[in-house]
Amino acid sequence: MNDRPNAAGIYDYILGGTTNTATDREAADRALKALPELGESAWANRGFLQRAVARMADEWGVRQFLDLGSGLPTQRSTHEVLAEHCPDGRVVYVDRDPFTVEQNEVLLRDVAGAATLRADIRDVDEVLSAARTRELIDLELPVGILLVAVTQFLPDEDDPWGLVRRYVAAVPSGSYVAISAPTGDMQSDRVVGNLRSEMARAGARAVSRSREEFTRFFDGLDVVPPYPGADPVVVHVGQWGAEDPEAADDDGSRWFYAAVARKP
Ligand SMILES: C[S@@+](CC[C@H](N)C(=O)[O-])C[C@H]1O[C@@H](n2cnc3c(N)ncnc32)[C@H](O)[C@@H]1O
Repeated sequence: MNDRPNAAGIYDYILGGTTNTATDREAADRALKALPELGESAWANRGFLQRAVARMADEWGVRQFLDLGSGLPTQRSTHEVLAEHCPDGRVVYVDRDPFTVEQNEVLLRDVAGAATLRADIRDVDEVLSAARTRELIDLELPVGILLVAVTQFLPDEDDPWGLVRRYVAAVPSGSYVAISAPTGDMQSDRVVGNLRSEMARAGARAVSRSREEFTRFFDGLDVVPPYPGADPVVVHVGQWGAEDPEAADDDGSRWFYAAVARKP
C-alpha cells in the first residue's frame, strides 16, 4: 500500500479511474482546487495519446509501441486503442514506479500483446534490451515511441532531448515519436507558481517547457501535420488530430504542447 501520493494514481483519479489510493485522491483534489482545468488537461492528453496511436496504426502501419512513462493503462490506453485499430498490435508499458507497475501487472495479466516493464526511461539500453521488450518489439521494424505527459519529470540536467534522440536512434526509419509536455507559455506566472507548489506538495518535481524547448524534441525528425490542412507544427494538445481543432483548444488543452514526428 502506498502512503505517498503518486503521479500515476493522481492521474488515474483525475481521469475517473479506480486504481488510486486515498492519498492520491487527496493530492488530486488539492491540485484540482489550485488548477480547475487539470481535468480537461488530463483528458486532452489522453485524447492525444489515443488519436496518435490510432493514426500511427491506421495511416502509417505501425504495429508496435513503447509507451514510456505509461502510468496506469486505464481509461482506454494504448492496448485498447490497438485492439480496435490493429488487433495484432503490441505495446510495452514502461514506468519506474513500483506501485504503478504492480497494478499494471494485474490489469494486463490476460491481455495478449501487452506487457509492463519496471524501468527508468532514462536507462535506454535497459529498456530496449529487457526480455519483455524483446518479446514484443522487433527493433528492425517501425516502432511508435510514446512520451505522453512524462518529459516534465526529466529536468534539463537529464537531457530529455538527448534521451529522445537515443530512442529514435535505436529504431528504423518509418518509426514515429509522439510527445506531449506541459507548458506555462499561455498561463500567468501566478497560476504556474500555484501549480508548481501543488506538485511539490505531491512529491513531484515537474518542469514546464516553452514552445522552442518543446520543438527541439523533434530535431532531425519530420513533424507531421497535426490535422488536415495544418502545417507540420507543434500545437496545443487538444488540437492534435481533433475534428474541430479550434473548439478542442480549451483552457486544459493550452497547458500542454503536442506533436508527432516520423523518423526519415
Ligand atoms: C502523468 S503520468 C502520465 C501517464 C501516461 N503517459 C498518460 O499520459 O496517461 C507520468 C508517469 O511517468 C512516470 N515516470 C516519471 N518519470 C519517469 C522515469 N524517469 N522513468 C519511468 N517512468 C517515469 C510516472 O511514474 C508516472 O506514472
